[in-house]
Amino acid sequence: TQSISEIARVKNLNRLQIGKHEVDAWYFSPYPQEYAHLPVLYLCEFCLCYFGSPFMLSRHRKRCNLMHPPGNEIYRHEDLSFFELDGKRQLTWCRNLSLLSKCFLDHKTLYYDVTPFLYYVMCQRDSTGCHIIGYFSKEKESADSYNVACILTLPQHQRHGYGRLLIQFSYELSKKEGKLGSPEKPLSDLGLLGYRAYWAETIIDLLLTTSDDVSIDEIAQKTSITHADVMNTCTTLQFFKHYKGQHVICIPESVQERYKKSLEKRKRRIHPEYLKWKPPV
Ligand code: ACO
Ligand code: ZN
Repeated sequence: TQSISEIARVKNLNRLQIGKHEVDAWYFSPYPQEYAHLPVLYLCEFCLCYFGSPFMLSRHRKRCNLMHPPGNEIYRHEDLSFFELDGKRQLTWCRNLSLLSKCFLDHKTLYYDVTPFLYYVMCQRDSTGCHIIGYFSKEKESADSYNVACILTLPQHQRHGYGRLLIQFSYELSKKEGKLGSPEKPLSDLGLLGYRAYWAETIIDLLLTTSDDVSIDEIAQKTSITHADVMNTCTTLQFFKHYKGQHVICIPESVQERYKKSLEKRKRRIHPEYLKWKPPV
């Protein structure tokens, strides 16, 4: 059951304007009181500062010379770039990002304290700058070996394959660290759909391109997906078969067909050779 205060909270922000997009907020986000009840909040798409009117925003834009997220560009290929930000060093920017992303994340407590996290921000580059598409955050030290804390594709960019790129990127970082990783629980419904799709494809891809029998452990080591997530995916998709008294992994014909179809419409992937990054020490 929802309390009165929760119902009131849901109702605060209505719409957000970010760059050339205007989107509905889905959930409560703790923007300061004086902004909370405006019909539209106007965001600078580069510094993520927020304003009460288009006039205030345009005045800000004359002074704001940011054209990409602050921090290091650690990946660049075609028109996609990733920036790594430290919640401690780029405090204001990361706080603004948290406020923005809370508009689309319900189940998570918002991290008011951004300092324990690194932020990986995916942008599309054009002549006017690097436009934010989505991001994920990651604890600097995760006791539970989570490789993602929060993940988000901005609503105007969802269902275009960007979530998959963010997820792939998070596993590429884990591979460089030589670790297995999994997203922080609980996952949202959309988060679960996105991850299930990624795990299934990655495992199928590996199985179809290796000739030898592959064990759960080998799949985990090659993909940085945890044993539990590999097991779960293989069980759900009914990859385990009994054969001459042994368990073998085999992909049903129908799943192979579906996989090939979805691969055909896939335009992009992350190319690890363009990732210029070493695990922070
Ligand atoms: N309905 C059905 N399947 C979906 C949907 C949907 N609305 N969205 C994603 N999927 C599945 C599909 O299988 C899809 O592949 P397909 O389009 O080829 O069928 C696959 O996920 C990947 O889709 P993408 O387009 O790559 O994902 P998207 O860019 O939309 O991002 C994300 C997915 C990040 C979960 C996005 O929905 C989002 O930001 N949601 C709001 C915030 C959120 O819930 N984040 C996760 C919280 S959990 C956590 O942070 C650890
Ligand atoms: Zn700005």
